[in-house]
Amino acid sequence: MTKLRVLYATSEAYPLVKTGGLGDVSHALPTALRQLDVDIRILIPGYPQVLEKLSLLEIHEDLELFNYSVRILAGIMPDGLTPVYVIDCPALYQREGGPYQTAAGHDWSDNALRFGLLSKVAALFGDHEFLFKPDVVHCNDWQTGLTAAFLAYSTAPRARTLMSIHNVAYQGTFGAEMVGLLGLPPESFNMLGLEFYGMMSFLKAGLYYSDWISTVSPNYAREIQTPAFGNGLDGLLALRHDQLTGILNGVDINFWNPEADQYIFSPYTKSNLAGKRKNAQALRKKLGLSLAKADRSPTGYKPLLGVVSRLTSQKGLDLFIPIIPEIVNGAEGAQVVILGSGDQELENRLQQLAEMLPGKVSVTFGYNEELAHQIEAAADIFIMPSRFEPCGLNQMYSMRYGTIPIVRRTGGLADTVIDATPENLEQQGLATGFVFEKEDSRELLQTIKRALQAFRDKNTWRKLQQNCMNRDFSWKNSAKQYIALYSKLVQQ
Ligand code: ADP
Ligand code: GLC
Repeated sequence: MTKLRVLYATSEAYPLVKTGGLGDVSHALPTALRQLDVDIRILIPGYPQVLEKLSLLEIHEDLELFNYSVRILAGIMPDGLTPVYVIDCPALYQREGGPYQTAAGHDWSDNALRFGLLSKVAALFGDHEFLFKPDVVHCNDWQTGLTAAFLAYSTAPRARTLMSIHNVAYQGTFGAEMVGLLGLPPESFNMLGLEFYGMMSFLKAGLYYSDWISTVSPNYAREIQTPAFGNGLDGLLALRHDQLTGILNGVDINFWNPEADQYIFSPYTKSNLAGKRKNAQALRKKLGLSLAKADRSPTGYKPLLGVVSRLTSQKGLDLFIPIIPEIVNGAEGAQVVILGSGDQELENRLQQLAEMLPGKVSVTFGYNEELAHQIEAAADIFIMPSRFEPCGLNQMYSMRYGTIPIVRRTGGLADTVIDATPENLEQQGLATGFVFEKEDSRELLQTIKRALQAFRDKNTWRKLQQNCMNRDFSWKNSAKQYIALYSKLVQQ
């Protein structure tokens, strides 16, 4: 049998460039697929971070697209496994700042061109004799949404297209004039096309024109077909429900591994969690949290609650902030450590809390991979009160580190965390965390209290930690589901 050939078009991939879970998935899924013998290759824009981290680039192809000179470079991911094609277009990508935004947090004003180019190059791979001829172009989020539109209007034999939604809340909408500037036919600007309330929508293009749609958890696949979660695209998604599949993300079990994590202070295993306590003490010292001993605590210290998150309304941290004083000052005397970046108002409120509650609350702003791992290893409890969550990776990282997640029952959080009700706790290996329903601070507080009560019971806590650490969150099963989907598409 010939190998399946897949081009994985993405706007971020760890360790080249990452702003969130898409970066993790764009590294871990291709890795898992290559290990299952799929010839998958990544396509990514040549931001400075990408060019710096890929030293052995060969020049393969010179193009003129949207009046820009564009070169396609070829390299290999730093782990030596997955080939990468990089779109080198200095006028659009060579600049200080993030992949989507300026350093000051404003969207780049030419994002339609920047990601129109990514989509266009992905489409060229899909219908030209060109470097690599994929059977499937696998697109990710709005930044690659136009690929399916370009290919739908192509007259050449073309690859099949799969559009993966990592977050339907980000849609890439731009003025209608971009349709012509990006070389799409005027008829595409239609309700049955890429038009969305008078604008052009990259994501809608992907959802309308792709051969198949996937998203990153089965529950989110259902939710986005409803007005509450569909962000205006629920009608189209419901219409295409026969071609919409939810495949749960996995995690990179080598990189997120308490036994061999290069970033943490002390490695540990599920049979010996002494190292976890050392991580907690080391992190307290590093961040200036109190090292005082606590009675009635199985760790001998106060319970440590961790957060690693983008600070946006999606993540629901505004539900957590108002109850932090009660949690750290109340009978529980918990400590809170937060790493995040994003919304300025949330940053200000968190900063004030940290100043008001020294030794009890620590906040760090900015993107910090090392600290993210250290928090996962050190915390007893991980807080994720998301309003919506397509999949969520941090709750799975937490479980691997024996850090018990508290999550809202939504999206992939509902698919991955099993509530520690008395009945579930009685069943061997079942309960893995604490789940609440409403977007409500009081309900979150009650759930945290429920978790802290369980924490004080050494046996219950140990059981939860074992249940979590025994779960298999590797990519293997999900990667096989992608292979089945690619194969079905190729046979269509
Ligand atoms: P999302 O993609 O919506 O942000 P996920 O849970 O899928 O949520 O993935 C978030 C990823 O980004 C995780 O790998 C998490 O550790 C990481 N992350 C989020 N914020 C930060 C930060 N400030 N510093 C370092 N890593 C972060
Ligand atoms: C998005 C979602 C997150 C998901 C990630 C990777 O950023 O917000 O829930 O885990 O993509 O698919």
